[in-house]
Amino acid sequence: MNPTIAVLEERVAAMEGGIVGLAVASGMSAITYAIQCICTVGDNIVSTSQLYGGTYNLFAHALPNQGIETHMIANDDFAGFEAEIRTKHGVPLIVYNTVATPFLCRPIEHGAAIVVHSLTKYIGGHGTSIGGIIVDSGQFYWVANKERFPVLNQPDPSYHGVVYTNALGQLSILVAAELRHLETLVPLSTLPIHLYILTGLETLGLRMERHCENAEKLAEYLNHHLKVSWVNYAALADSPYNATCKIITSGKASGILSFGIKVSHKVDSKVAGVQFIDALQMILRLVKI
Ligand SMILES: Cc1ncc(COP(=O)(O)O)c(C=O)c1O
Repeated sequence: MNPTIAVLEERVAAMEGGIVGLAVASGMSAITYAIQCICTVGDNIVSTSQLYGGTYNLFAHALPNQGIETHMIANDDFAGFEAEIRTKHGVPLIVYNTVATPFLCRPIEHGAAIVVHSLTKYIGGHGTSIGGIIVDSGQFYWVANKERFPVLNQPDPSYHGVVYTNALGQLSILVAAELRHLETLVPLSTLPIHLYILTGLETLGLRMERHCENAEKLAEYLNHHLKVSWVNYAALADSPYNATCKIITSGKASGILSFGIKVSHKVDSKVAGVQFIDALQMILRLVKI
């Protein structure tokens, strides 16, 4: 084990309140391996439909091609994602915490079994490195529904018939991920990537405070702007997400917001949107956050 990677894994796991972390090459590999260690052909996952494009393609196309079906819950039907899902139904809840970061939200405290991150974004913070991490809460009882998690509960022929839950107990999912994927597909990035990410992690708190403060000011400004028709930012008092935001992220909503511009009924709104973005001079268009 590389000691720098181990420090990164330990720190992010500690910040999330999990027992162990596994660093991988990107956020997308973290999402992919977290699911592939639990699911196999014929299994189903349930997901929100509000996904980043890469994750949408993974769930809608790549995983179904490997025999894992995704049921997407439209809009914000959060009743479908009850926090007690793991205790009520024996289904592990995986939360993608990239945008909130553990500075704003610790999903394990709300019932998540596993937390995944793209470290490429706020945690790395400087656009220098691509990375991802899977954090295990250590609180999901994988042996309780053995038939539901064959990957962890049945002998793995590629590792001398080891049954991960027998050999490793609560650590089974991440060790299974490491043995099944990292050693064969090697989706781990190399130094100095983890060093850059660790350096970014040092200032996460400061940067997140500032991101939230800036985004909130911008959201307030846009919310009162005569040429703006709507603003979607959960920290705004009139946001339908504000009550939830107060509960899970202390009323802060990270650095991403969206808004609509008012256009005359004679103008195609998509065309107007493109014209507006093209006319921006200080704000750059990027395909990543
Ligand atoms: C919201 C979101 N999630 C995940 C990813 C993918 O992360 P990574 O580049 O670390 O694989 C991106 C990349 O832009 C993203 O914007």
